[in-house]
Amino acid sequence: MKIYIINGPNLNLLGNREPEVYGNASFEDYFNGLQKKYPKLQLEYFQSNIEGELIDKLHEVGFNYDGIVLNAAAYTHTSIGVADAVKAIETPVIEVHISNVYSREEFRHKSYIAPNTKGIIIGLGLKGYELAIQSFL
Ligand code: DQA
Repeated sequence: MKIYIINGPNLNLLGNREPEVYGNASFEDYFNGLQKKYPKLQLEYFQSNIEGELIDKLHEVGFNYDGIVLNAAAYTHTSIGVADAVKAIETPVIEVHISNVYSREEFRHKSYIAPNTKGIIIGLGLKGYELAIQSFL
């Protein structure tokens, strides 16, 4: 089974960025742990701060992978382009947010992506990525 994790802008700073909101762990360390825990899965990871690169990656993997775990970060709340890409592809997408966006500013309450996802996991920290993976198994 082939699963791709795609992270959007500023998530490269996990571990350093607002640790009270996003925790102390870097995504690379967390991802290495996931690969060790699920050795039979083909687990891959991509992060970009650039909207078009996220769209290109969705196009690239969205017809030949079994599942995509997408945290589009701030683009969740702003990008029709990322939302259209999620709608256009065939691979099911689980939307993940590390923080509980509904307990934060109102502009984080809107997701353009959510209507075209298989499901959403919000506010459970990095554990949300693993729960998303498990939902594909
Ligand atoms: C986030 C929530 C977004 O509102 C924010 O812009 C992020 C991270 C999360 O994982 O909690 O960058 O997607």
